[in-house]
Amino acid sequence: MRVAMIGTGYVGLVSGTCFADFGHVVTCIDKDTTKIDALNNGKIPIYEPGLQELVAKNVDEERLFFTTDSSDAIRTADAIFIAVGTPTRRGDGHADLSYVYAAAEEIAGLLEGFTVIITKSTVPVGTGDEVEAIIQKTNPDADFAVVSNPEFLREGAAINDFKRPDRVVVGTEDDKAVEVMQELYRPLYLNETPIIVTKRRTSELIKYAANAFLAVKITFINEIADLCESVGANVQEVSRGIGLDNRIGSKFLHAGPGYGGSCFPKDTLALSKIAADAGSDLKIVDSVIEVNTARKKKMADKVVDFLDGDVNGKTIALLGLAFKPNTDDMRDAPSIDIVEKLQSCGARIRAYDPASMEEAGKMMSDVLFCDGPYHAIENADVVVICTEWDQFRALDLERVKSLLKAPKVVDLRNIYKPDYMLSRGFEYTSVGRSY
Ligand code: UDX
Repeated sequence: MRVAMIGTGYVGLVSGTCFADFGHVVTCIDKDTTKIDALNNGKIPIYEPGLQELVAKNVDEERLFFTTDSSDAIRTADAIFIAVGTPTRRGDGHADLSYVYAAAEEIAGLLEGFTVIITKSTVPVGTGDEVEAIIQKTNPDADFAVVSNPEFLREGAAINDFKRPDRVVVGTEDDKAVEVMQELYRPLYLNETPIIVTKRRTSELIKYAANAFLAVKITFINEIADLCESVGANVQEVSRGIGLDNRIGSKFLHAGPGYGGSCFPKDTLALSKIAADAGSDLKIVDSVIEVNTARKKKMADKVVDFLDGDVNGKTIALLGLAFKPNTDDMRDAPSIDIVEKLQSCGARIRAYDPASMEEAGKMMSDVLFCDGPYHAIENADVVVICTEWDQFRALDLERVKSLLKAPKVVDLRNIYKPDYMLSRGFEYTSVGRSY
């Protein structure tokens, strides 16, 4: 199959590369010349384990191409994916669909023969109808079908998530389009991955409902963690105790500083707006947004409390800035709010992250970005672990102790055990663990 992928951001690049690896001929299109030039020179603009090698392999085997000029790729495509950004619209919290609609207009006049147009971007219910209307209006003769096919890729595990997904969701009522989708995902049909074919609007909602449910799970366990601290319980044991119930499941029950990233904050907000517009209550999701937003600042309060209520003039070593490990993504990372609040209380921040310091530098001011964890810890009053990178699990604790002014650790990701840290001479606090 010939595939055109419009938008070479995170989702577009990973999906385009994986489709090429499935054996299709894929052209990734982006308006950003610098990005396309970089990709054509073998440079990957994002940090994703395994992606560099997979891009190189498929470029070498002449199945993967990058261009700023969409026309040829669109004309010859059997399937065109729209994988452009849908950021939160300033002012009202709705998803901004201008890039999606611009892509629809751009491709409409170029379509030749039956073409399936697929929205991969996370889009509100009804966007597929709008894309269809735009194409019909711009090119009444076009022979096409618009399909919703949401992605469920986690950053850091995106290639595996694409190639070995729990399920694929296809939203269309057009039989010819279903055949094209089957061919696109043939390796997954062969290994019996569940493929859910449903109506387009249902498919659009599945994506939001999935992300919102995961956000609910995380926020629920975060509140239980607070309760554990108040009543002398341990949240990790609560998570295990409830997670072994198959109806609940053990994943996404790690208490921490609140969820961040490019999807959960944006998608929960957009879903809340979709529900409000439809006149339908979604109180649980609204509460989750509120609780999670407050939680990030609350984590700074935890640090302040740990330092006896005063961080003015104190130096805080922050380990980890990205919203989660194995990514350089800083979007809505809890570290942003934590740093802001600590600074407003007069603290100085020394920070280290293995991948995201360049991104963090664009969002934070007056932070000293350090060369490594031990450099960040030098002469600090406390270490705050904010992202659970593996290298922070293996710190030389004697060295940490000797570099700190006082041996104090706030572990917002529960990567150390409280009794172990105490036995090593640390004053230690974490999330939801009274013991
Ligand atoms: C998420 C979804 O998992 C993915 O399916 C969707 O397509 C995009 O959004 P991603 O944003 O890459 O993926 O990150 P994910 O691994 O899901 O984590 C999101 C946030 O939740 C992170 O800040 C993480 O630290 C936090 N989290 C996750 C917790 O605090 N506790 C958990 O148990 C799990």
